[in-house]
Amino acid sequence: MIEITTQPREGLSIEDCVFYHTVELPEHGVIEGLWDLRAHTDRYLGNVSLKGKRVLEVGTAGGYLCFYMESQGADVIAFDLAPDEVADIVPYARGSLAERTENMQSWMEKIRNAYWFSHKAKGSKVPVVYGNAYAIPEAIGEVDVAVFGAILLHLRDPFHALASALRLTRQTVIITEPLWSRGHLFRFSLMRGRYSPVAIFVPQAKRAQPPTTWWWYSPAIIQQFISVLGFEESKVSYHSQMNTELKTMFPYFTVVGQRTVPLP
Ligand SMILES: C[S@@+](CC[C@H](N)C(=O)[O-])C[C@H]1O[C@@H](n2cnc3c(N)ncnc32)[C@H](O)[C@@H]1O
Repeated sequence: MIEITTQPREGLSIEDCVFYHTVELPEHGVIEGLWDLRAHTDRYLGNVSLKGKRVLEVGTAGGYLCFYMESQGADVIAFDLAPDEVADIVPYARGSLAERTENMQSWMEKIRNAYWFSHKAKGSKVPVVYGNAYAIPEAIGEVDVAVFGAILLHLRDPFHALASALRLTRQTVIITEPLWSRGHLFRFSLMRGRYSPVAIFVPQAKRAQPPTTWWWYSPAIIQQFISVLGFEESKVSYHSQMNTELKTMFPYFTVVGQRTVPLP
């Protein structure tokens, strides 16, 4: 097993950061982010008891969930996209992919800064492994729980990323995804069809939007993905989370899967 060493980023100010989540930091107070999960964090995490568990959070962004799980007594490892890796940006024929990539890279850098800003303010011990969700290093070692919060919608190949993490996961996987996008053409179809294993391909060619959202999933397709990977028992729960820009609660679902086929 490798030692996970992380080089904290020092000397950061709030201006160097983009806060994906609303955070409450000692000496800084509340800093508003794009999503405020504070009221329903346990529901976002499927109400799973994490005390004493070794947890891998894939796609941590500013680390809000990691720091929360750490406060609940979990031994957490954060994972996110490395600075030299490129996110799955939708390659629209319209517009400039290079420009979109550059914008995304500088946004991501500020999100990583926000992680380290909060990490320092909270005195957190959570290490980060930077890489790509498609190739999570085996050297991380086995974990009890893997958490995928609002990341699979951004991955062209969600099954590949799940397989990469779940080959290290001995007990539980927690997957949270938006149930639909407000105002989206298909806003009702996933709810109506939530017992069918379907994913809707989101990119709209004429608008060349959204930049990095590929799929809206039904809960049933997530359950089917993880069952293939050895997590044949799973439960779905529903909750809402606050989008701070729109001041609106958005519907989400969480699948909690339990490993039924032991790791080799
Ligand atoms: C929408 S944020 C989710 C933040 C948090 N997990 C939550 O539930 O609120 C998605 C995160 O996934 C990360 N991400 C996207 N593609 C990735 C990839 N291929 N490998 C690792 N992380 C990735 C992004 O960098 C970002 O931090």
